Amino acid sequence: MSIVVRDVTFRYNPGTSLERTALEDVSLSIGRDELVLIGGAIGSGKSTLIRHFNGLLRPCSGQVTVDGMQASEKKVRSRVGMLFQFPRQQLFGRTVFEELAFGPKNFGLRGPEIEKQVHYALELLGLGRDILSTSPLRLSGGQKRLVAMAGILACRPDYLVLDEPLSGLDAENKGLLISALRLLNSDGVTIIVVSHRVSDMLSLADRVYWLDRGRLVFSGTPAEYAGHESLPLPEITCLMKELRTRGFDVRCDIFDTDEAFREISRVLGSKRVKGAAEE
Ligand SMILES: Nc1ncnc2c1ncn2[C@@H]1O[C@H](COP(=O)(O)OP(=O)(O)OP(=O)(O)O)[C@@H](O)[C@H]1O
Ligand SMILES: [Mg+2]
Repeated sequence: MSIVVRDVTFRYNPGTSLERTALEDVSLSIGRDELVLIGGAIGSGKSTLIRHFNGLLRPCSGQVTVDGMQASEKKVRSRVGMLFQFPRQQLFGRTVFEELAFGPKNFGLRGPEIEKQVHYALELLGLGRDILSTSPLRLSGGQKRLVAMAGILACRPDYLVLDEPLSGLDAENKGLLISALRLLNSDGVTIIVVSHRVSDMLSLADRVYWLDRGRLVFSGTPAEYAGHESLPLPEITCLMKELRTRGFDVRCDIFDTDEAFREISRVLGSKRVKGAAEE
């Protein structure tokens, strides 16, 4: 059970003077229960790629299947929840409650069942119930993003695809969103996160894909990503690499400061012990 992208090429406005190739010969596969990052510079084709996962776009050549079905099949839509890059494209309810209830209602749930799904989504994201009566239009950019995400979670998708989910969030909400993603993933939801800055999510990921001008140029684990010469790395990973070139026996597949602290303490600690033993 997985999303499989095989030899996909996609052009906007094909056959016109505005033709633009956004994806070229892209192949990848995302297994059930994985947490995957898709990175790449601005305009490299990330949003175009993920819109193929629920049939919003169809390839000019190649194919995309979800659990063995063509991604354009209607049944796929309820399995693949998608948070768009610009949440305004996603919000249309009069209140946040209407917004969150829309998906579950559409899938045939009624009264108390809908409320249960709405509260489940709110709790996952650490949102208070008082937000339910607010108009989505009166929310800040970051709140809109969280509400759009809650609307998707209320439908309990098997695959959750998030386009730049951390942009516009402050440190606290980033933390809440990341914990929610961890929880969902451990609960069996496959998570696909798109970001032109993968730094914040590398420590969570099982696999990383990197696009460059519409082509897939890297596929591997976060540790393999850290060992790559020309991909952008978090500052903390660069520091670990620098320490290593200066002779410290530290690991370089480290993406957050807490882990770096533990690793540096381990190495300095062992040096001190060694030094003390030599004295
Ligand atoms: N609707 C469209 N019509 C024509 N060209 C488009 C359209 N949407 C995107 N493109 C072009 O396709 C290419 C890939 O765009 P896409 O939005 O997929 O990139 P991205 O990696 O998501 O970028 P960003 O990091 O800015 O979100 C870009 O060159 C872009 O200009
Ligand atoms: Mg994009």
